Amino acid sequence: MSVAFAAFASGSGTNLEALLEREERGAAYRIALLVVDRECAAEGRMQRKGRITARIDFGAAGAGRGLARLLSEHGVRGILLAGFLRLVPSEVCRAFDGRILNIHPALLPAFGGKGMYGRHVHVAALASGAKISGVTVHLVNERYDEGRIIAQWPVPVLASDTPDSLAARVLEVEHLLYPAAADALARSLECGDARPPAFRWPDGFSETDGALGQAIEGAFDGGEG
Ligand code: GRF
Repeated sequence: MSVAFAAFASGSGTNLEALLEREERGAAYRIALLVVDRECAAEGRMQRKGRITARIDFGAAGAGRGLARLLSEHGVRGILLAGFLRLVPSEVCRAFDGRILNIHPALLPAFGGKGMYGRHVHVAALASGAKISGVTVHLVNERYDEGRIIAQWPVPVLASDTPDSLAARVLEVEHLLYPAAADALARSLECGDARPPAFRWPDGFSETDGALGQAIEGAFDGGEG
């Protein structure tokens, strides 16, 4: 039996797609519902697969309570933020404490916090002169990008990088790391583990023979940063 998750998104939804693809290949989770706060490509991706979506007006009075009820109606046990640009309402943070993940396109706590989303993150990383950026999956609380870190992976910053080229290299890693971290959360919920999910690489993974390892090695090959 897979663990029911909701995904929350506001944008292009490539991480959502990676999560759905992993689910189709067999995962400990299933995305029972997509919640969006606006019309967005993520919504279209979910609907094309014939899956359930809900567009919520987060500014409306009682939105948090209504959302908590909707999640419970769908039997949701965990939440995956996938390019969701708002804070999660406090009712939902409380109800799902330790069971909400976010993915961030940098190595937190660097280049995180309010206003640090999308291209802004990569512009800031390049402006700082950082030689390594990367991907972080963390637990979500009522503040931007501050919850406990669950998984991270470094991505080199090359001297030739633009914000777009760095974003593209980071995104490739996001698509591998997020489904693996979501799976780790689902497994820990399945066995009733109250501790933060212990991230481990998928079975058979090693730095040299797994797809993720190859992607990382490829990214570092020829690194000039
Ligand atoms: C990703 O870079 C993710 O790290 C951040 O928002 C972006 C969402 O991209 N939280 P997508 O909508 O999944 O394509």
